[in-house]
Amino acid sequence: MAGQQIRWKLLCSLAALISSVTTQPSTPSFVDQPISETLEEGDTLILRCSFGNFTSDFNAQWVRDDVVFSKDFEVYREQRLVNFFGVTEPSRYSVIGNASLGEFYLQIRHTTVSDAGEYACRLSDTIGQLSDSDTAVIQINSLPETSYPRCFPTDLDSFYTEGETLRVECVYRGATEPLPSLTWVRRNQPLNGERLYDSLSDVAYNWTFVSDDHGRSILCVYNYGEVETQRCEIGPVTVYYKSTIQMDPFIYVTVGQSVQITAEVDSYPAPYSYIWEINNLNVENEQRIFVNGNILTILDAYETDGNATIT
Ligand SMILES: *[C@@H]1O[C@H](CO)[C@@H](O)[C@H](O)[C@H]1NC(C)=O
Ligand SMILES: *[C@@H]1O[C@H](CO)[C@@H](O)[C@H](O)[C@H]1NC(C)=O
Ligand SMILES: *[C@@H]1O[C@H](CO)[C@@H](O)[C@H](O)[C@H]1NC(C)=O
Ligand SMILES: *[C@@H]1O[C@H](CO)[C@@H](O)[C@H](O)[C@H]1NC(C)=O
Repeated sequence: MAGQQIRWKLLCSLAALISSVTTQPSTPSFVDQPISETLEEGDTLILRCSFGNFTSDFNAQWVRDDVVFSKDFEVYREQRLVNFFGVTEPSRYSVIGNASLGEFYLQIRHTTVSDAGEYACRLSDTIGQLSDSDTAVIQINSLPETSYPRCFPTDLDSFYTEGETLRVECVYRGATEPLPSLTWVRRNQPLNGERLYDSLSDVAYNWTFVSDDHGRSILCVYNYGEVETQRCEIGPVTVYYKSTIQMDPFIYVTVGQSVQITAEVDSYPAPYSYIWEINNLNVENEQRIFVNGNILTILDAYETDGNATIT
C-alpha cells in the first residue's frame, strides 16, 4: 500500500516535469475563454477569447464543432486580418475587441438556429496548432411566430439628447414563407429602413431624435398581405430638447393699468429657472414689477415702459 503511494507521487512529479519542459515560453495563455450560453433567435452572441503573454505573431481562429468555419481568420499582435468565407457585407459575423490586448471576440449578430454548436478559439503559429480554448456549447431557441418581429436594442438609455442617433434593428426568424416585409414606422409614417444581411428580412434604421420624439416610440411592423400585422416597438424614449419660447410679440397696455405677460416654454426637462430682461436689464422684483417663473407682472404701467423689449 505504502509502496503504491510513493509510485503515484513519482508518476505525478514526472508528469509535472514533462509539462514544464514542453511549455514553450512564447505560447500565449488564455485570459478569457468562451462560455456556454442559451439564446433566443435574433439575439446577439458574443464569445470571448483573449490571451496574454504572447511575444511573437501567431494566428487565432474560431472553430465550430471542431471545424474552422472561417478562412484567413487571423490575429497578429498588432493587427488582425479577418475574412469569413464568401460572406457579403455586412456580415452577421465579426471579430471585435482590442487586438493589441489579445482580445479576439467572436460576435454573431441576429442569430439563427443554424448558429448553434460547440465553439472554441484555436491558437496556432507557423509551425502548427498551439492550443484550443475551452469549448462553449451554444444553444439557440426558436420562438413562436407570435414573438416576431423582435426589436433591438432592448436596453434603452435613460435619456437621449436631441440630434443624437440610435440605431434600431428589427428581426424576423419565423417560419412563414415568403418572409413578411418589415417596416419601421414613426408617427404613423413608414421610414426608409436599411435592409440588413442579404438572405434575411432584417431591417435597421438610424433614429435621430427630434424634440417631437420625446415620449414616443418607434414601431417595427410586419405585414403579410394587407391583413395580418404584428409589431414590436422601441420606446417610449426620453429626449432632452432645448427650449423654444413663445410670447406675444406685441402687447398693448394703457398707462396706469397692469399687464401680465406669460412665456410659454417648450423643453424637456422643463426650465429650472427663468430670467427676464427688459431693455437688456435683468428684472428684479420691485414695487411695480414682479416675476414669478414664466409670468411677468407689471402693475401700473408707465409711459416709459412702452417699447420695452422683453426677453
Ligand atoms: C504570464 O505569465 C506569468 C508567468 O508565467 C503569469 O504569472 C501571468 O499570470 C501570465 N499572464 C497572463 C495574462 O496569462
Ligand atoms: C488597445 O489597447 C492598447 C493597449 O492598451 C491601447 O493603447 C489602444 O488605444 C487600444 N485600442 C483601442 C481601439 O481601444
Ligand atoms: C447608420 O449608422 C451606421 C453606424 O451606426 C452606419 O454604418 C450606417 O451607414 C448608417 N446608415 C445610414 C443609412 O445612414
Ligand atoms: C415708442 O415708439 C413709437 C414709434 O416708434 C414712438 O412714437 C413712441 O414715442 C415710443 N415711445 C416711447 C415711450 O419710447
